[in-house]
Amino acid sequence: MSEPNDPNAMTLATADSRGRPSARMVLLKGVDNGGFVFYTNLESGKGRDLAENAQAALLFHWKSLRRQVRIEGPVTNVSDAEADEYFATRARGSRIGAWASDQSRPMEGMFLLEKRVAEYTAKFGLGEIPRPPHWSGFRVTPDRIEFWKEGRFRLHERIVHTRKGDTWTIERLFP
Ligand SMILES: Cc1cc2nc3c(=O)[nH]c(=O)nc-3n(C[C@H](O)[C@H](O)[C@H](O)COP(=O)(O)O)c2cc1C
Repeated sequence: MSEPNDPNAMTLATADSRGRPSARMVLLKGVDNGGFVFYTNLESGKGRDLAENAQAALLFHWKSLRRQVRIEGPVTNVSDAEADEYFATRARGSRIGAWASDQSRPMEGMFLLEKRVAEYTAKFGLGEIPRPPHWSGFRVTPDRIEFWKEGRFRLHERIVHTRKGDTWTIERLFP
């Protein structure tokens, strides 16, 4: 069984330097030994939060499977080379969009966005579209991962993996 609808969509929770939390959806674009990678505008709300406070939580809710996975840990920037490589795989329209959108800043109207898309489309023509300097990725390196599975009569299963250094311990929690 697998989640049919956007299985890689996850809630990303961040907080600013005063501890004010903020959550939004992003798409998981890579997983490796270093952690879970997503991409965004570095000057967006989440980008600003992570510059001030490099900790995050991720949450997958696979509704069809009746499962959730919670991930927490410190966040680092992906390398320029890694971001370039991923950016190059994106559709041309998405690459132009990354240039055109001042994500999370006030916009007078949709016309302004359409105008900027047209401007960047003309600017790049048929040529290469480089990655904007304000667009890159973050990697959440987990130090806690919890797997939750629905059980009968709300007697759900919760298994937590916690990392200290390179050692992971596993325990069960009351639901
Ligand atoms: C299913 C889904 C996937 C999304 N994926 C991304 C993503 O990968 N990167 C991103 O910057 N925004 C993504 N968004 C938009 C964000 O939820 C959010 O609106 C935007 O990034 C601005 O958030 P911020 O102001 O907290 O930075 C996605 C939204 C949805 C509903």
